[in-house]
Amino acid sequence: MRVVSGIQPTGNLHLGNYLGAIRNWVRMQDELEAGGQCLFFLADLHAISMPHVPGELYAGTLEMAAALVACGIDPDKSILFNQAQVPAHAELQWLLNGTARMGWLNRMTQFKDKSGKNREGASVALFTYPVLQAADVLLYQATHVPVGEDQKQHLELARDIAQKFNNDFGAGEEVFTQPDPLIPPEAARIMSLRDGTAKMSKSDPSDMSRINLTDDADTIMKKVKKAKTDPEPLPGEVAGLADRPEALNLVSIYAAMTGDSVDSVLATYGGEGFGRFKPALGEVLVESLAPISARFRELKADREALDAILARGAAEARERARPTLTAAYRALGLVRS
Ligand code: TYM
Repeated sequence: MRVVSGIQPTGNLHLGNYLGAIRNWVRMQDELEAGGQCLFFLADLHAISMPHVPGELYAGTLEMAAALVACGIDPDKSILFNQAQVPAHAELQWLLNGTARMGWLNRMTQFKDKSGKNREGASVALFTYPVLQAADVLLYQATHVPVGEDQKQHLELARDIAQKFNNDFGAGEEVFTQPDPLIPPEAARIMSLRDGTAKMSKSDPSDMSRINLTDDADTIMKKVKKAKTDPEPLPGEVAGLADRPEALNLVSIYAAMTGDSVDSVLATYGGEGFGRFKPALGEVLVESLAPISARFRELKADREALDAILARGAAEARERARPTLTAAYRALGLVRS
């Protein structure tokens, strides 16, 4: 098994990232110790597809590296690096641009969402973003890619690119492995605390919409207590949450944090109002996140140590990327075969 995944280093690590992806990264890392390899990276090359402040990007990369280590990513067990130090990502993207089709990219919902009404003004990088994401995973022959549901379409594209490339240029060989997405059913899509129909996101202008892993106990409690809800008490079973997106989101967060099922949370809190449920949820969050945020504050102060972690991870990643990159050049006829 080879596990590969990434996160953009802009903004704070929030509860959606943690429950949708990072917690699974840590589980995979710990389960795979003997029989596999995990590569986790900061997607700084992806971050330049949107307007950004150059003076803040590298600091953001170091902070996100600190946040991942605080969550349990161990640089001695996993390869932790940033894309910008591994040129093979950008190189392979260019090679794959010959295989990806305009029609495929035109169907990507993230491009539509992020470009909005300003399609003509969007960067070319935002349009070809999913091809870089395909390169990220195909470069290491990833078998499994732990992500939240919003990345599923990009992973399907990576599979299509791998299949077409193998077909068109592989001469009977599999140049690339088809990666499988790993999406946690209980936390595939954590929603905003202000709107149960929008996903929790770093780009939401309201900080009240998300729990950041760096929030202190008071802030977490305040955000949970102010979270949008409805006036009804909680139902006794999950079917009763069908048309109540905000209530479903809070109960799902509670379930994901404690490892219980939504039904068993409702068995305890069914019939109760949010006046009782919200403080209980706040406490669960504070208790689980406090050690992570304490460790994060400690780690982020030592920038030299973080630089060293990324440099070491990047050196490993460059080594691991080489055979597949060479195979892709060869398959395309760019070098003597
Ligand atoms: P990014 O930085 O937006 O998010 C990182 C991870 O967090 C997950 N996630 C969520 N999961 C559940 N609920 C939410 N509200 C939520 N918000 C975010 C995302 O699904 C993701 O797994 N394009 C990617 C980064 C990337 C990548 C890759 C991922 C670049 N190359 C290769 C996997 C493989 C992104 O912007 O994720």
